[in-house]
Amino acid sequence: MNRPDRNIRPEIRQLDAAAANRIAAGEVVERPASAVKELVENALDAGATRIEVAYAEGGKTLIRVRDDGCGMAGDDLPLALSRHATSKIDGSDLLNIHSFGFRGEALPSLGAVGRLRIVSRMAGAEGAAITVDGGRMGAPRPEAAQYGTVVELRDLFHATPARLKFMRSDRAESQAVADTVKRLAMAEPYVSFTLTDISQGAQREILRLDAAQGALFDAWEDRLAAILGRDFTENALRIDAEREGLRLSGFAGLPTYSRGAAVAQFLFVNGRPVRDKMLLGALRAAYMDVLSRDRHPVAALFITCDPERVDVNVHPAKSEVRFRDPGLARGLVVSGVRHALAGAGHRATSTNTGAMLGAFQPGTARPYQMDRPSGAARATAYKLQAPQGMAESAGFWEAGTTLAARAEAAEDPAPDAPGNDAPLGAARAQVHENYIIAQTAQGMVIVDQHAAHERLVYEKLKRLRAENGVPSQALLLPEIVELSSSDASALLEIAPHLAALGLVVDPFGGSAVVVRETPAILGTLNASALVRDILDELADQGASTNLEARIDAVLSRMACHGSVRSGRQMRPDEMNALLRDMEATPHSGQCNHGRPTYVELSLADIEKLFGRR
Ligand SMILES: Nc1ncnc2c1ncn2[C@@H]1O[C@H](COP(=O)(O)OP(=O)(O)OP(=O)(O)O)[C@@H](O)[C@H]1O
Ligand SMILES: [Mg+2]
Repeated sequence: MNRPDRNIRPEIRQLDAAAANRIAAGEVVERPASAVKELVENALDAGATRIEVAYAEGGKTLIRVRDDGCGMAGDDLPLALSRHATSKIDGSDLLNIHSFGFRGEALPSLGAVGRLRIVSRMAGAEGAAITVDGGRMGAPRPEAAQYGTVVELRDLFHATPARLKFMRSDRAESQAVADTVKRLAMAEPYVSFTLTDISQGAQREILRLDAAQGALFDAWEDRLAAILGRDFTENALRIDAEREGLRLSGFAGLPTYSRGAAVAQFLFVNGRPVRDKMLLGALRAAYMDVLSRDRHPVAALFITCDPERVDVNVHPAKSEVRFRDPGLARGLVVSGVRHALAGAGHRATSTNTGAMLGAFQPGTARPYQMDRPSGAARATAYKLQAPQGMAESAGFWEAGTTLAARAEAAEDPAPDAPGNDAPLGAARAQVHENYIIAQTAQGMVIVDQHAAHERLVYEKLKRLRAENGVPSQALLLPEIVELSSSDASALLEIAPHLAALGLVVDPFGGSAVVVRETPAILGTLNASALVRDILDELADQGASTNLEARIDAVLSRMACHGSVRSGRQMRPDEMNALLRDMEATPHSGQCNHGRPTYVELSLADIEKLFGRR
């Protein structure tokens, strides 16, 4: 920085309007997509039912937004273009905002950074046009026009070359423009949108969204399907929850429909697209239990409330909001989504079936395979479990009831019929010591028994913890585990919490600990392997996450230790009991890592594979 000589007093000047506007405009218009956002929002505020967006060269040379909204009178055009002039609020109540716009900044900002031309006509009046170039405004002139408004912005940032330099490729800017239009369109299903690339005289339609009809949820569903694909709506749950006047609606993807990055999370507050950290965090928390950390949920969620309960005036692009009661908003998202996920029960994503069909290439000998453990791993697992397999160790179900006994107690014990009408059907066979093949009324399912059982154990552990704590069983021979001193203290620090989960660990001199009791539900297990696994989990989590999240993660690790490993042969009654438990257990459609626990193949699909259809 070039600092002035401290003995010379610098002169304070009033910047001219053009310079002041250009500085202010920088906050509002960052790139073509932000200009598009302002213009489409204005069209929506004007009550448009049809909005057409066109752009050239990624929006750098031209952006044009046409709407059929209320329009403006010719005399009003100069006012619309001056700073802090708005028809949307009177300034007396900044907390009660019902429109996208309220600052009266967007049009003057666009006029300061590009060549702007507006043609508008309102009902019962003649059309008029006005132009602004680099902040200099012309006079409004009559012009023939249809009802509504057309705003054209050419040569964005021609007056501010510094900004121009930061512009990305046409492709990247076009992508950002499309994302902006899609986001706005998601919340406005009754408005039709088109997006057209008109670079170099050509016309390429990028997006066409017809106005949806019918009830709001159906309209949203159609719109979201048009933007995100039918896949999304078919693999999403409807959310509709309310808490103290805050309403949460929309769609949340099944955990098995998750993504590798947080790229498909769309949140809206009173129709306004937001990228609010608090809300995104709440969404993450809602899925914490059903997704591993490297998977990200897909969701389109709409929060509506009295505008007074949320401040939208906290961010220049209005993309963050501040709830008056952030805890309430967060709680609503977490509980609303969790509730829906629990209600989804064993439902897994339909796209797995698609993947399965894709993998079954007639004539190529490549059967559909999920990540099956290696032969060696299966052999070890088998050894670890024998002779105390699931049925014998029993822990998982009520003490003393073996799987077999449970299955026999079922109402319809006919050997070839149990579960035929049940969603997951009747077990027919087990293949490769891990996959259960069951026949359903409409086709068949293949269950990954290890993944399914792990999930069932986890859900059961959670239920027990929520009730009276997880019952433990004392080890006949307490097991001493040697650890590093930091590991030992990390473990002992959470010992009281582990005790509530049925794992009793005490210090044993130096850096050793002694495991005295383990969760009864897990049956006989390798206590030192469990302890080391828990330490790995704690290390993975880091100190940053809160205790509750860490304990949840520990619980999930525990579940792995109690599950039927692949590699154990199961009797038909045991398999059927597993299927019935999956049906009765929430979240059983995916394992603790978000992978599906079963895939479904309908008879129609099977017939397709054999060319019968
Ligand atoms: N497409 C349009 N149809 C009808 N009137 C419009 C349209 N665009 C803008 N206006 C009028 O021009 C005014 C100024 O628009 P501008 O976008 O600059 O400010 P705003 O929308 O009120 O607030 P913000 O700066 O927060 O967007 C609006 O208040 C509105 O009255
Ligand atoms: Mg505006």
